[in-house]
Amino acid sequence: MKAVRTLILAFVLVALPGCQGQKAASTVGTDAAVEARIDKFLSQMTLSEKIGQMNQVSVGGDVSNYADALRKGQIGSILNEVDPVKVNEFQRISVEESRLGIPLLVGRDVIHGFHTVFPIPLGLAATFDPALVEQGARVAALEATAQGVRWTFSPMLDIARDPRWGRIAEGSGEDTYLDARMAEAMVYGYQGRAADTTSMAACIKHFVGYGAAEGGRDYNSTFLTERQLRNVYLPPFEAAVKAGAMTLMTSFNDNDGVPSTANTFMVKDVLRGEWGFDGLVVTDWNSMGEMIAHGYGTDRKDVAKKALDAGVDMDMMTYGYVSHLEELVHSGAVKEAAIDQAVRNILRVKILLGLFEHPYVDVDASAAVQYAPEHLAAAQRSVEESAILLKNNGVLPLEAAPLRNILVTGPLADAPHDQLGTWAFDGEKEHTVTPLKALKERFPGKVSYVPGLTYSRENRARFDDVVAAARRADVVLVFVGEEAILSGEAHSLADLNLKGSQSELLAALKATGKPVVATVMAGRPLTIERDLPNCDALLYAFHPGTMGGPALANLLFGDVTPSGKTPVTFLRTVGQVPLYYNHTMTGRPYNGETLLDDIPQEAGQTSLGNTSYYLDYGPYPLFPFGFGLSYTTFSYSDASLDRDVYGKDDTITISCTLANTGGRNGTEVVQVYVRDLMGSLTRPVKELKHFERVHLQAGESRTLQMQIPVSELAFYGQDGMKKVEPGDFQLWVAGDSDSGEPMNFCVK
Ligand code: BGC
Repeated sequence: MKAVRTLILAFVLVALPGCQGQKAASTVGTDAAVEARIDKFLSQMTLSEKIGQMNQVSVGGDVSNYADALRKGQIGSILNEVDPVKVNEFQRISVEESRLGIPLLVGRDVIHGFHTVFPIPLGLAATFDPALVEQGARVAALEATAQGVRWTFSPMLDIARDPRWGRIAEGSGEDTYLDARMAEAMVYGYQGRAADTTSMAACIKHFVGYGAAEGGRDYNSTFLTERQLRNVYLPPFEAAVKAGAMTLMTSFNDNDGVPSTANTFMVKDVLRGEWGFDGLVVTDWNSMGEMIAHGYGTDRKDVAKKALDAGVDMDMMTYGYVSHLEELVHSGAVKEAAIDQAVRNILRVKILLGLFEHPYVDVDASAAVQYAPEHLAAAQRSVEESAILLKNNGVLPLEAAPLRNILVTGPLADAPHDQLGTWAFDGEKEHTVTPLKALKERFPGKVSYVPGLTYSRENRARFDDVVAAARRADVVLVFVGEEAILSGEAHSLADLNLKGSQSELLAALKATGKPVVATVMAGRPLTIERDLPNCDALLYAFHPGTMGGPALANLLFGDVTPSGKTPVTFLRTVGQVPLYYNHTMTGRPYNGETLLDDIPQEAGQTSLGNTSYYLDYGPYPLFPFGFGLSYTTFSYSDASLDRDVYGKDDTITISCTLANTGGRNGTEVVQVYVRDLMGSLTRPVKELKHFERVHLQAGESRTLQMQIPVSELAFYGQDGMKKVEPGDFQLWVAGDSDSGEPMNFCVK
């Protein structure tokens, strides 16, 4: 939290009358000033008031229901109140009517926007544009803090290699490096590069391994080794801590038998010890209490002790701390010093956010901040950069002039609630622009709408009306996918094909012979292989949020050229799970062996070759990680490295020429992958180590110079130490994880 702390302190101290003199103090001095302020509070607080700070309560209804507890200092944080009048009243009671006047931390799940809803985080990751993602998080912070929310439970940094898991929607996908860059961007965006009353503390979650739930069933156990954690799952958290994330949430899952909320090794040793995190650690919702269901604790008192022992500062909704810590201290089972440490971590966040100086929001001003035109513009641009063109036989971009009759159809064409996606508590249907609305506005009199299916799960074999409309149309724009309810928390699926009769709808439309352009809105990469032949073009938009309609219209009609890339591998069938690009190399990699259809009758047991693949689906996904088409084409040439041999402290400079070889301006996401050919452990076949978005005019070419510090190649090896192991490496510069020719280099 140090980087942000310095910035925030400057603000707090400037805002504080009489403190200006301290502004010039060194970071240590200013740290000391904060700690001294905390010491003073701790010396005045009763044990019960301290424990109250550690209690987070979800509120609803009348503020007066909580007044007594607030006055007694029994609540340190609330979540789920976003009415600024009520938030002010909560703060007023805490600040003016409690003995010590400590303000509340007001939390909310502001996951991909507040009122202005951006694409779901998986969609944001598809932009490969951290600067834009930071801007989106800033917009979310501006809108949420204007209503008194100063803490968001975001970003979710769980690596997800299983699209059955509904919460894949909430993260950045399968790749550690991409996730880490998005993590930093969101932390900077929420908390602000320069701190002020619009700074909203980020909460990095879920610590840790939650995305590896067995079978993709939410809340399920995980079995990640310490090496997997350190090499794959932890780096985004560490990056976010370095970026200054002020808080962290422990996850629901147990990993290798230890529930995260009692995982002393992860919280105390790794997070605080190794990374120096001095922020606030909060449980997930009742994850302390759920340790009883896990069979890891006898009762609430037992799990409260276990969570405190692990270094967890705040209890979200178990009421374990507030009910039992006092007696645990009195019995000598826990030390008051442990409680003091937790309260210290909580008060530090409140001080750094400037809550003591600015507990209230300006209710009259808050409405004007919501849906500001620049917020909507940022949301629209995010959709434009996030949609991935997965197929195009040339029908896109559409040329508007010759079109007289545009048929819009499909269950997601006009579903404002659903295009907002999961965790869009504060998004509003009334402010959401659907594709139908945007297209009608853009082409008055030319758009006909026949939904075909009113919702995705509808099973309807007959499509007479929509087929008749398609026959009359010049082009069919069909919006399919899954509703918001089908992804997100607790919403895992075992079948990832388009639900209901959507595939039949596509087939029926295709049979008309009219050009069919499909747009998929979904919370995950669905298995769309069987649908590809039934569309001439397919744009994958995830759930795009408030401005989905205008952005998609711009993409379909060529005002904007698609540039999104898959942040996760797209599977052919769900049975391929897990299949991700950066797997380690098997001893028997696939080598072109026979697939099911070609296996002769009574083939001998060993006649197929003994390699790693599925007889029925082969070894490959539908689309690899990092893939996405454009309306133009790009070529890579003259790739080279500045040297053949590098030392561990060197930086690799990669040059290559990127040319826009097509007829339109466009943006390419240039990706650099590295393979460590041999290590003390088997190494991934490729790992993303750098990416950048490059915009080129039609016909333009540019020589790029990209740099990767050799230290980026470090990993936790057999001895458990993080280092770069000397040896031979390969490096690719390409437009996706499955392209390009390797270059060789060596690290001495
Ligand atoms: C989720 C968290 C969320 C919390 C508070 C839990 O169910 O797992 O991600 O932040 O609820 O709403």
